[in-house]
Amino acid sequence: MLPIQISKRARLTPASPIRRLAGLARQAKQNGKKVYHLNIGQPDVHTPVEFFAGIKEYDSQVVEYETSEGNHLLREAWSNYMERSLGIAVPPQSFLITTGASEALIFTFMITCDPGDEILIFDPTYANYIGFAAISGVDLIPVMTTIENGFGLPPLEQIQSQLTSRTRAILACNPNNPTGTVYSKEEIAGLLDLCNRNNIFLVVDEAYREFVYDGLTPYSVLELDPSNERIIVVDSLSKRFSLCGARIGALITPNQRVLSTGLSIAQARLAAPTIDQWAAAYMLNHISDEYSKVTTKEYEERRDRLFSRLSKIPGVEAFKPRGAFYTVARLPVAHAEDFAKFLLNDFDDNGETVFVAPASGFYQTKERGNDEIRLASVLSSQHLERAMEILEGALWEYKEIVGQ
Ligand SMILES: Cc1ncc(COP(=O)(O)O)c(C=O)c1O
Repeated sequence: MLPIQISKRARLTPASPIRRLAGLARQAKQNGKKVYHLNIGQPDVHTPVEFFAGIKEYDSQVVEYETSEGNHLLREAWSNYMERSLGIAVPPQSFLITTGASEALIFTFMITCDPGDEILIFDPTYANYIGFAAISGVDLIPVMTTIENGFGLPPLEQIQSQLTSRTRAILACNPNNPTGTVYSKEEIAGLLDLCNRNNIFLVVDEAYREFVYDGLTPYSVLELDPSNERIIVVDSLSKRFSLCGARIGALITPNQRVLSTGLSIAQARLAAPTIDQWAAAYMLNHISDEYSKVTTKEYEERRDRLFSRLSKIPGVEAFKPRGAFYTVARLPVAHAEDFAKFLLNDFDDNGETVFVAPASGFYQTKERGNDEIRLASVLSSQHLERAMEILEGALWEYKEIVGQ
């Protein structure tokens, strides 16, 4: 009998480049190696105690479904948090609470596009955008950014030239995963102007909003034009509060039509998790600003230590990120994925090795990023330095074996 049919859309959804080599890392650990995980943005910073206090406060005999738009206490608390942290008034009704930013992104693709419509993204890009596009039938059109240019936005004319009659939105991630680039207010204002002129949405993924360094101030695109109906912000508590497993995100927009059509989609999936929303509301209402300051300072120091050690490795080219907690580095190898496998399968330095994410999976454009990796600064500074030492040793040994 022929195998039962699997949809093309499922088959075309790429495996996550971040998780693809996880089996090799498991095997390396089974073989007794210590593996430094720099492949995935899973923060090790402690979750605020206020979140756990919120879980203890949850008091109900039945864990009921939440409302589809999200817990009203959370929407209010998030709105207040934005007022406190950014000084902008975003009313609670502008929030649609989702199961992580991931679901907010899927909703955004579904709301703004029909199958075959296009969204412009900047390449390299957050790899899961590629997966979300595959499952919603959207074509992602990559606009190239380069390591030489600090992965900054290209001139607006170049972006404009890639718009077609099927373009429905420009999607920017700011601060950026995977590059750590922070777009200035002027750059984002330029994108907004382009979207206004072409009557398309500007979607800004602000999952890493607070993590900006070198004295930069966090801001949201909503500050630029709070009532602009073309703006959709995708937000998340995952990174900001080390709450990846709580699965709390939001789609935020002043556009009532987006919210009401989004609510119909949200109703079809019923609701985001009840207890996590409750605890997140409690946390946002009780947490002090200190948590964010301390966390950002910690990531900035890690960025400094990682970058300073990484840039001493001969043949490595890297851009110093100014936000988020990632760095893209170009290695003196032809295929970074083979090198990443070598690190896990064949190499160790005193029983220790490193797990890095090959960057090609972050590019929508084929054959780009083959010699690049992405590193996540989600370990202590000391461990990051040790990981860079291991990486340097592995590059020497790899060169001897492969001869490049
Ligand atoms: C840029 C970006 N957007 C969205 C997400 C998904 O976040 P969430 O955990 O809220 O689904 C991530 C997770 O790594 C991310 O890096």
